[in-house]
Amino acid sequence: MSIVEMEFTIFHYLRVLFVFFALSSYSFVVRGDKSSLLIVDVRSFGARANDHRDHTKAFVAAWDKACKSSSSSVDLIIPRGEFHVGPIKFSGPCTNVSNLTVRVKGHLKASTDLSKYRSGGGWIEFGWINGLTLTGGGTLDGQGPLAWPFNNCTTDSHCKLLPTSLKFVGMNRTIVRRISSVNSKFFHIALVQCRDFKGTRLNITAPSDSPNTDGIHIERSSNVYFSRSHIATGDDCVSIGQGNSQITITSIICGPGHGISVGSLGRYPNEKDVKGLVVRDCKMSGTTNGIRIKTWADSPGLSSATNMTFQNIIMNNVTNPIIIDQSYCPFSSCSSNVPSKVKLSEIYFKNIRGTSSSKVAVQLHCSEGMPCKKVYLENVHLYLASSYSSGGGSGKQESSNGGSEAVSSSCRYVRAKYIGSQSPPPCH
Ligand SMILES: *[C@@H]1O[C@H](CO)[C@@H](O)[C@H](O)[C@H]1NC(C)=O
Ligand SMILES: *[C@@H]1O[C@H](CO)[C@@H](O)[C@H](O)[C@H]1NC(C)=O
Ligand SMILES: *[C@@H]1O[C@H](CO)[C@@H](O)[C@H](O)[C@H]1NC(C)=O
Ligand SMILES: *[C@@H]1O[C@H](CO)[C@@H](O)[C@H](O)[C@H]1NC(C)=O
Ligand SMILES: *[C@@H]1O[C@H](CO)[C@@H](O)[C@H](O)[C@H]1NC(C)=O
Ligand SMILES: *[C@@H]1O[C@H](CO)[C@@H](O)[C@H](O)[C@H]1NC(C)=O
Ligand SMILES: *[C@@H]1O[C@H](CO)[C@@H](O)[C@H](O)[C@H]1NC(C)=O
Repeated sequence: MSIVEMEFTIFHYLRVLFVFFALSSYSFVVRGDKSSLLIVDVRSFGARANDHRDHTKAFVAAWDKACKSSSSSVDLIIPRGEFHVGPIKFSGPCTNVSNLTVRVKGHLKASTDLSKYRSGGGWIEFGWINGLTLTGGGTLDGQGPLAWPFNNCTTDSHCKLLPTSLKFVGMNRTIVRRISSVNSKFFHIALVQCRDFKGTRLNITAPSDSPNTDGIHIERSSNVYFSRSHIATGDDCVSIGQGNSQITITSIICGPGHGISVGSLGRYPNEKDVKGLVVRDCKMSGTTNGIRIKTWADSPGLSSATNMTFQNIIMNNVTNPIIIDQSYCPFSSCSSNVPSKVKLSEIYFKNIRGTSSSKVAVQLHCSEGMPCKKVYLENVHLYLASSYSSGGGSGKQESSNGGSEAVSSSCRYVRAKYIGSQSPPPCH
């Protein structure tokens, strides 16, 4: 064994010992050469679990220590127990840290004082960091029920936006694993301008009637991968906004909620295109939509969404299993008569099966100004859910084995190509 190897071994032995120490005492700092691991515990900065005081300052101080470290690897520990915190920005760059792991083991509770939050901001916001891992099995509790009554964004287009629970801005190489989010005030998780993002084993929960509690919203990001997560919420389980490329969503169990959506696109001028989306191996239960692509009517600029594949999706009692809606116009201030200028093309629906709770199981309503191009449906098997209520006064109607004639397709400004067997039958 050379001296170098020996030093290496001793170093790793010490590192294990230090980690052991760090776990048995409050906080431990391993300083030294560049490859060392620094462990920072929020309790070393005055945070105490379960004391109902606000610990935002302690968290920020711990972050400063972690981010400004000269160690290449840093672990920031938020231990078990409940911690109340207001809005926090964990900002980089953390120049000399290449791997920064934030381990949330405890239960974080968001401040309910809405005046503390910036409109459109986050409760916990990570920005401009390379190589962040957020994990630990802990929970972010947005305390949404106290804030939802103040959300009037469904009726007022100039409303103050409530905070997103966990927001990532301008991040590279991020991993989020084993984190729960419950009752966000607004979105649970949002990504803006992120590259190389991987989210897995997330558990996202809010009541089905909570407003704008999207599970995961992605915007202007690339190389994003979300998998193996449960999302039950009041709005979209996943929403893919403008400017995204190379997005993969896989093995998501969604419902209740509004399903997995691309959009809404085309609300603002200068929106960037969406391209390269794959959604596969997902299960939607009791959601209002399964796969939805929605664009605003009367959009102020030109943009496009292309190369999108939705594959191996199980629908269980979904109201609109497959829906393209290019005349989205929720406010009276916009005009749904003016066609959307978002161009949709290369859209593949493959192996979509299960039940619809409404008769129109496939609705492809494209823009009169920009008909959809290259829309493919391959092996779509959707039937009426057995609890389907005919609305004809006779109450519940058992559709013993569905019956493909029971569900239908509706198309506007699109000539879809059909491959393999189809239920509902294709549009003529
Ligand atoms: C980062 O590393 C550089 C070069 O080793 C050093 O000059 C600088 O002081 C370090 N910055 C911090 C915040 O430790
Ligand atoms: C940082 O993490 C990555 C991925 O876990 C690993 O490959 C790399 O060796 C780590 N770098 C350092 C300096 O610890
Ligand atoms: C992330 O990567 C992009 C492209 O390499 C770079 O322009 C940007 O500065 C990086 N962000 C950070 C926080 O380093
Ligand atoms: C929405 O709420 C804000 C303050 O919470 C209020 O100023 C505004 O008038 C409300 N708008 C509507 C349409 O209710
Ligand atoms: C997800 O979180 C909810 C609410 O906290 C909990 O009831 C449920 O058991 C969790 N599910 C999983 C799969 O962890
Ligand atoms: C379509 O998207 C997939 C997945 O992101 C990507 O691998 C493929 O190269 C894209 N195809 C084209 C023609 O851009
Ligand atoms: C199916 O969905 C409809 C409408 O969302 C609902 O009324 C019905 O109870 C659901 N059926 C089952 C079996 O969950």
